[in-house]
Amino acid sequence: MPAKLNNKDFARLSEFITGEFGIKMPDLKRIMLQSRLQKRVKELGYKNFSDYIDYFFSKKGMEEEVMHMIDIVSTNKTDFFRENEHFEYMMHTLLPDLYPNGKKGNLKFWSAGCSSGEEPYSLAMVLAEYRIGNPLIDFLVYGTDVSPRMLKTANQAFYKEDRIGNIPPELKTKYFLQSGNREEKKVRIVPELREKVIFSRLNLIDEFYPTPFVFDVVFCRNVLIYYDRGMQEKIILKLCSRIKNEGYLFLGHSESIAGLNLPLKHIQPTIFMKP
Ligand SMILES: C[S@@+](CC[C@H](N)C(=O)[O-])C[C@H]1O[C@@H](n2cnc3c(N)ncnc32)[C@H](O)[C@@H]1O
Repeated sequence: MPAKLNNKDFARLSEFITGEFGIKMPDLKRIMLQSRLQKRVKELGYKNFSDYIDYFFSKKGMEEEVMHMIDIVSTNKTDFFRENEHFEYMMHTLLPDLYPNGKKGNLKFWSAGCSSGEEPYSLAMVLAEYRIGNPLIDFLVYGTDVSPRMLKTANQAFYKEDRIGNIPPELKTKYFLQSGNREEKKVRIVPELREKVIFSRLNLIDEFYPTPFVFDVVFCRNVLIYYDRGMQEKIILKLCSRIKNEGYLFLGHSESIAGLNLPLKHIQPTIFMKP
């Protein structure tokens, strides 16, 4: 296979990716695209990039390959309790405000763009901890991503032990099981927490979000960063349609809604309420 994605093929693909998905594709992304495409081209058994690109633009490719392309051009980096101020805010401000002690409720949280599951499981740990002092609440966390590969890892809930190094020991003991095989150095989320988190494939570019609930809180963090402002506004509007009145939206720390026309009230940087 030729080692390089030629100018014509890069231009064709990047124009499509920006035009259809609103994902920014500067020339800087060419090397990344080339190396990730190489794996995909091999996987599908094509001899070179051009054959793959012809397939991509065919009717079958448009139906079956588009979700893989979003997976190829976005990054899955994540962590347990990433941007921990959000989890602290939930535990100490948001949950006590929404569900003070003695109030019954069944909370629904959504991690949109959940990658390999660390974010929804972190949310579930905070909710489970809050529930100890507030046993009248119950909760469910819904995790969605465009990438079937990430969703598979999320569902399996096995993680390398070094990924949980920063989690407080009492949470580790409560919510992670050591793998039977100590050579492997893997841990797994306990079944009681796994059953509180459900995963499903959802592409945020799609016109409708057929989620089974409307949500008290939506986390959509470090996902919008790949998209241009127009697409960001469209996605957040659709997210808002799935948030309850007086529910919350959390964005990633480098994401902002400044200049976008959205029905959201600013609570503090990256935390918004739907009035
Ligand atoms: C950098 S990760 C962020 C994960 C997590 N939210 C966090 O902050 O740690 C971005 C995730 O967004 C997903 N993503 C990108 N575009 C998407 C789309 N159109 N629909 C659904 N998920 C998308 C990617 O597959 C990736 O898993």
